[in-house]
Amino acid sequence: MSTDAIVLLREDHKEIRRLFREFQSANTPARKAAAVRRILPALATYRQREDECLYPQVRTLLPDLDQRVLENSEQHHVAEALCAELATMNPDDERFTAKTTVLIETVTRHITGEEQDWFPQVRKGLGRKQLQDVGARMIALRKNGSGKKKPARTAPTNGAAPKNAAPKDAVPVQDVVDLLIQQHTQIRDLFLEVEKADGEAKREAFHRLVRLLAVHETAEEQAVHPVARLHLQGGGDIVDARLAEEHQAKETLAALEEMGPDAPEFPRLLAELRASVLEHASHEEAYEFRYLRRDVPAAELRALVKVVKAAEAIAPTHPHPGIESATANTLAGPALSLFDRTKDLVHNTIGKG
Ligand SMILES: [Fe+2]
Ligand SMILES: [Fe+2]
Ligand SMILES: [Fe+2]
Repeated sequence: MSTDAIVLLREDHKEIRRLFREFQSANTPARKAAAVRRILPALATYRQREDECLYPQVRTLLPDLDQRVLENSEQHHVAEALCAELATMNPDDERFTAKTTVLIETVTRHITGEEQDWFPQVRKGLGRKQLQDVGARMIALRKNGSGKKKPARTAPTNGAAPKNAAPKDAVPVQDVVDLLIQQHTQIRDLFLEVEKADGEAKREAFHRLVRLLAVHETAEEQAVHPVARLHLQGGGDIVDARLAEEHQAKETLAALEEMGPDAPEFPRLLAELRASVLEHASHEEAYEFRYLRRDVPAAELRALVKVVKAAEAIAPTHPHPGIESATANTLAGPALSLFDRTKDLVHNTIGKG
């Protein structure tokens, strides 16, 4: 798998353009709103990669490009402000479409400019090895999360690393929402890794993806959705919709696991799973997590961190359709025992909470 920073960023640009087209071709307010819910997290992830990994490196090593980095960074800032407004805006608001259209125009100009003349200059200045190092940091950042809420828009240019940069091994999780969003990012990265790898590396990456999805969804089902069901207005409907999505994804995951990465049908089914899992994650972030923060006491959300971490510790290795419903959970087998162990651990941890 390539870790070249510019290759990774071009992939981000491609995904962002695809999401923009989705918004532009949406013919109902509900579809437009759904497209925006996917656009916002994709842009946040993309900005973070550049703001925290590439821009500081370019400022340090290529002072001739400094002014351009500052301009790029300001363009990110404008997009970030529009995203923040859209995140809290009712899709029925008369300005919702107009604001999204301006966001799309702004970001399209920005990414086109980066691709046309800025990336080539950066590639020439940094070279292959540096770009691979930056790309590796981008991937690590997505695995570990960032220590800063805000990107370093005014990173120093004196050759030193930014003073307030997060330590490499920092896991800046404030509550369970932070942790689950970090896992969504890891899941997105792992899909890319599986898609790009071959042979044994592909099998190994897919195995990690299966484990991560199993842990993540089990922890949500057992510990987080019940809290949402209890506290959120309309929580029952919100959680039922998420459980249905999780069930669907697990069935596809189980089918993929059974056929194995060498099967001719694997890439198509993997792409299908990727689309549905990422859509599910953006639904959770838009409909559930935001309201957890609003309606659930902060201490309770902090306490749930250790429950999700306990599930991570046991990491079941196989998906099991039906696990999200206790009554549907009647199938026997080794995979089930792993899920049950995770469930037990989660319940024990809640009990000790
Ligand atoms: Fe950018
Ligand atoms: Fe989920
Ligand atoms: Fe999730």
